[in-house]
Amino acid sequence: MTTRQLRLGTILHGASGNMSAWRHPAAQADASINLDYAKKIARKAEQGKLDFLFVADGLFINEKSIPHFLNRFEPLTLLSALAGVTEHLGLVGTVSTSYSEPFTVARQFASLDHLSGGRAGWNVVTSPLEGSAKNFSRQQHPEHALRYRIADEYLQVVKGLWDSWEQDAFVRDKASGQFFDPAKLHTLDHHGDFFQVQGPLNIARTPQGRPIIFQAGASDDGKKLAARHADAIFTHQPSREEAQAFYQDVKQQLVANGRQPDDLHIFQGVSVIVGDDAEDVERQYQTTAALVSITDALNYLGRFFDHHDFSQYPLDQPFPDIGDIGQNSFRSTTDEIKRKAQQHGHTLRQAALEAATPRPLFHGTPEEVADGLQLWFETHATDGFIINGGTPDTFERFVDRVVPILQARGLTRRDYPGSTLRDSFALKQPVNQFTSQ
Ligand SMILES: Cc1cc2nc3c(=O)[nH]c(=O)nc-3n(C[C@H](O)[C@H](O)[C@H](O)COP(=O)(O)O)c2cc1C
Repeated sequence: MTTRQLRLGTILHGASGNMSAWRHPAAQADASINLDYAKKIARKAEQGKLDFLFVADGLFINEKSIPHFLNRFEPLTLLSALAGVTEHLGLVGTVSTSYSEPFTVARQFASLDHLSGGRAGWNVVTSPLEGSAKNFSRQQHPEHALRYRIADEYLQVVKGLWDSWEQDAFVRDKASGQFFDPAKLHTLDHHGDFFQVQGPLNIARTPQGRPIIFQAGASDDGKKLAARHADAIFTHQPSREEAQAFYQDVKQQLVANGRQPDDLHIFQGVSVIVGDDAEDVERQYQTTAALVSITDALNYLGRFFDHHDFSQYPLDQPFPDIGDIGQNSFRSTTDEIKRKAQQHGHTLRQAALEAATPRPLFHGTPEEVADGLQLWFETHATDGFIINGGTPDTFERFVDRVVPILQARGLTRRDYPGSTLRDSFALKQPVNQFTSQ
């Protein structure tokens, strides 16, 4: 029996920390558009033998958006640059299935997989923000359930395109003049509700067979999509009990889809603060939280509810009843914010500050942080974590002081097991759908 391995990634999230962390003395204020900063984090992640670096994305901004969303790299372009300065780190980028074409995206991720020697991962999102429609010549943002129906067909198409060529299709025999073996070329010829795609894809099967697929979206439809198609989930559950319920639900759905429970890794996105003692941790938290004004916090809260203007409500009254606003946006997140506000009887001010400056779930000395991560892992609340530094200088401390403890406890590995992200995840090479028929 193989021992279960705790897996780690990190997310590039502006300067790291809350929305106003760019003002922190230790912050790289232009982090989201600074290649040297991204390289530094990527190299640090590789030093800690982390599995991957994760880049989130969005397709609509306005003046109320989080500062580092206003000016940031497009994920695939950034990851292509990072492929050249890293060797083992998985490179996971977010692209929306609601505002792109499967042929283009299949080709882009296949290219990143080839460029990086098998380290590409795609975080599939359906785009929460209504405003995105206005940037893509659309009359309307597709409704939540429709976005997931589109995503399901989209993934069928992309996977089919990635199977266009068998691994050894390109013989390139100079003597005979044969460039490829026609028996190893497969044309998808997809005709569906949303997409008509002939294929084949104009790039060879990739080093990983196909790039690793992440899914971020925790609603029932999101989990269903992941159970059908994904190799990993990026989620964010507020407590260990909720994470355990989520974990069980997804693993059962995998089995119902004819897959094995460890065919998909669940990653909790968590914020972390590492300090010398409780006082140091509290000081670090307070210093960073104090950078967020109540106006910032209301804007932050509002974005989840499709940029709803919360400044119209009294701050110190109970969280307002805003009906179904947000249901077509970040549904799982807005449901959680409303539920929490009601459960704790929070005022609007408290709910906004809670959303914008949450106390990191994992904070304390390096040992205490390692204990917390270990508990979640061993009690099947998660398979791994996507680490977001709670302050701009946390991630370095995490790699220097927490990772060695996790390694010493045998929870994480001391080196990369192979050269691809699929190797790091210990996932099987996918079977080509055309050769399995
Ligand atoms: C943990 C997490 C991370 C997400 N990251 C992104 C992202 O980077 N970009 C994006 O457009 N949407 C992101 N989403 C939004 C989802 O993809 C989806 O569009 C929206 O949340 C509605 O899905 P849900 O109700 O299933 O969560 C994320 C959602 C979750 C839960």
